[in-house]
Amino acid sequence: MDIRGFVESLRGCRELLEIPDEVDGRFELAVLTDLMCKHEGPGLLFSRVKGSNISLATNLLGSDRRMANALGHDNLEAFGQWLTAALAGVKGDSSAQRLRLLLRSVEREQKPSTCFIKQQLNLDLLPELRFWPAEQRSFFTLAVVITSAPDSNIQNYGLYRVGIVDRKRFTLNLLPGSGAGRHLEQWRSMGKSMPVAILLGADPALIFAAAAPLPPDFSEEHFSAFINQGKIQSCHCQTVPLSCPISAQIIIEGWVDTESVMDEGPFGCYTGDYGGSNVCPLVEISGLSMVSEPLIPLTLAGPLPMEDCWIARANLEIIRARLRVDIPEINSIEMPLEAAFYGLYFVTCIDPLVSVDELSQRMRSLDYLARMKTLILLHNTDDFVSETNWRVLLKNIPTAQIWQDGAADLGMLMNTHPAKLQHDARIIEKMKNRLRIAATESTPLKGQ
Ligand SMILES: Cc1cc2nc3c(=O)[nH]c(=O)nc-3n(C[C@H](O)[C@H](O)[C@H](O)COP(=O)(O)O)c2cc1C
Repeated sequence: MDIRGFVESLRGCRELLEIPDEVDGRFELAVLTDLMCKHEGPGLLFSRVKGSNISLATNLLGSDRRMANALGHDNLEAFGQWLTAALAGVKGDSSAQRLRLLLRSVEREQKPSTCFIKQQLNLDLLPELRFWPAEQRSFFTLAVVITSAPDSNIQNYGLYRVGIVDRKRFTLNLLPGSGAGRHLEQWRSMGKSMPVAILLGADPALIFAAAAPLPPDFSEEHFSAFINQGKIQSCHCQTVPLSCPISAQIIIEGWVDTESVMDEGPFGCYTGDYGGSNVCPLVEISGLSMVSEPLIPLTLAGPLPMEDCWIARANLEIIRARLRVDIPEINSIEMPLEAAFYGLYFVTCIDPLVSVDELSQRMRSLDYLARMKTLILLHNTDDFVSETNWRVLLKNIPTAQIWQDGAADLGMLMNTHPAKLQHDARIIEKMKNRLRIAATESTPLKGQ
């Protein structure tokens, strides 16, 4: 399902609130989104964004149900059961092997390039965005970035933050170890620029796959088609040697000069503080296209819980399904929503003699748990973690049941610090009022 179809389906099940009045992409959109994320509200559609004729949508994946709907299921547990059953239905020693076998059945349909010469995008039409007061530029936070290694036509699809520098250049925030970061190293060692395609408004299953815990060098494009139970439909880009799914709303093509980097400036993070990298590679834009009335989904980063916690919850379902194959002795694994980006997991194991250190070592050897920071081994499944008891539980756990990586920031998670990221109180009041009006004018939403 493409992003427009998904938005319409959310409207149909009253999981979407359309804001009819003009909204400023600088702070107003973020304030409205923050309010929704913190109150389990619906997805938001902004069809009148100041200075732009592009529609924006936020919080589309911000609940168990919406995240699951994007993956073709009613709830995330059902998605996990579906994947577990699919992996159980094929043979293989590891979950990675089984996933590869599963995706063999996915077909590709190569479309003529003309089908995606949609219309030329004028970069001035992109809305100006500011999520938190100290940010200096617009960021696209659900952009799917396509790259490939110099000697291979296997493409990597990664969900990375993209910052607008000017009409010709974008920054890419590639964390160490990211697929695109690895590709960039390979292009650099050959002294060549790296081709890249950035999709804004990719289909939701591809957005999810681009951030999912999948094996390295595994096709996220195939995985999203497998989730959608459909074919891959792609065509060649116009100015770079890459192929693109035809369902994206906007495609930005370009080249990364492997020698130049740039500070992307402050960016509000889940820690409640500003982050942002000073070594972001720069993309020189070589081609742009878009559908006639594009829609760009965005997500707001900031103090948790936010929409991305639900992406992390769906990732947990993939981890569960894969662990059943890779370490079947682990009979349950949990991650509180609020700890989604701290690499904290609680597990129970059927082997009563296993130590937390032994278990953590085995888990960290798996591609999808290599970045685990803290592991808590629980002996009693009755004590299992819930969204409300996990902090208390953690305080009372004997140290023999805790494993922590040197970089773990558990203290930060346990001692809630006041967030530095704050919006102007006047904008908050104004937006609360705007929400009341939008909610009264729309058909009643779920929970009202
Ligand atoms: C909302 C969201 C934003 C993300 N932003 C970034 C980012 O800016 N840079 C990055 O390297 N990873 C980011 N990630 C994590 C990657 O998408 C994730 O690690 C993914 O597996 C990367 O794919 P790769 O292994 O092909 O690099 C983000 C994840 C989410 C859910």
